Amino acid sequence: MTQRPSGRLAGKVALISGGARGMGAAEARLFAAEGARVAIADVRDDLAAELVQEITRAGGVARAYHLDVSDPDSWGATCERLVADFGGLDVLVNNAGISGSPADIVGTALEDWQAVLAVNQTGSFLGMKHAVPLLRERGGGAIVQVSSTFAKRGVPELAAYSTTKAAVAGLAKNAAMSYVGDNIRVNSLHPGLIDTPLVADSPVDAIIAATPMGRRGRPEEVAYAALFLASDEASFITGAELFVDGGFDCKGQNL
Ligand SMILES: NC(=O)c1ccc[n+]([C@@H]2O[C@H](COP(=O)([O-])OP(=O)(O)OC[C@H]3O[C@@H](n4cnc5c(N)ncnc54)[C@H](O)[C@@H]3O)[C@@H](O)[C@H]2O)c1
Repeated sequence: MTQRPSGRLAGKVALISGGARGMGAAEARLFAAEGARVAIADVRDDLAAELVQEITRAGGVARAYHLDVSDPDSWGATCERLVADFGGLDVLVNNAGISGSPADIVGTALEDWQAVLAVNQTGSFLGMKHAVPLLRERGGGAIVQVSSTFAKRGVPELAAYSTTKAAVAGLAKNAAMSYVGDNIRVNSLHPGLIDTPLVADSPVDAIIAATPMGRRGRPEEVAYAALFLASDEASFITGAELFVDGGFDCKGQNL
């Protein structure tokens, strides 16, 4: 990818949950290249540390934080360290997510259901709960909720996952209205099929066939959308849903 950094996030501090690999890592690279100081918050300390080195070598500013998004104490400790390191927070990307075992409702074990909800849904709630007070202290900020095209579709084999992605988008709208008076913008991002480790072992031919552009997206293509929503360029946008899906959602609506 050709990067032409122009400081679109200059002066901002951004926390990206699940920032160690996949789309979160692409966002961390791009946000840092655009001038943000980036907190890469993930359970994968090894990958997060490697990415911090890469960003630092490229002239950016990033730090790794061990964060389990499903654990409120982990959020508390991460935010405390982040404020000590960077002085505050301007942008939260609630990106960490897991897919769980593919199954319909009847076939989903309660433990699997709870595990997916804990990371994708409760993790996103906890992220906002901890970030909003910090954003308020800075006079406002932006939250990007990473949902999915599957938030809007009946996907028989992903009962828990698609439920959480609808919840994440719903939470974005709730927060957008709750905090509009605090100058905090909250939007949801809806990727289609994106080429990351999350889907490396999944059968995806049917999704590609249903995607008008006929291919997977690249993590960088989602990162640019996250960058826009995180930046002041999106200053009049809150409560919106942005699809980065090669036309998947549009085709679904018009079939
Ligand atoms: N790849 C796709 O096709 C696709 C499509 C739509 C939406 N999404 C969503 O995009 C987001 C990123 O997905 P990806 O494809 O980059 O996945 P990925 O598996 O490559 O990356 C997810 C990251 O989240 C981290 N993570 C997992 N559990 C965590 C936890 N409890 N606490 C903190 N970090 C945790 C992982 O360590 C990993 O670094 C997810 O929310 C996913 O649901 C992905």
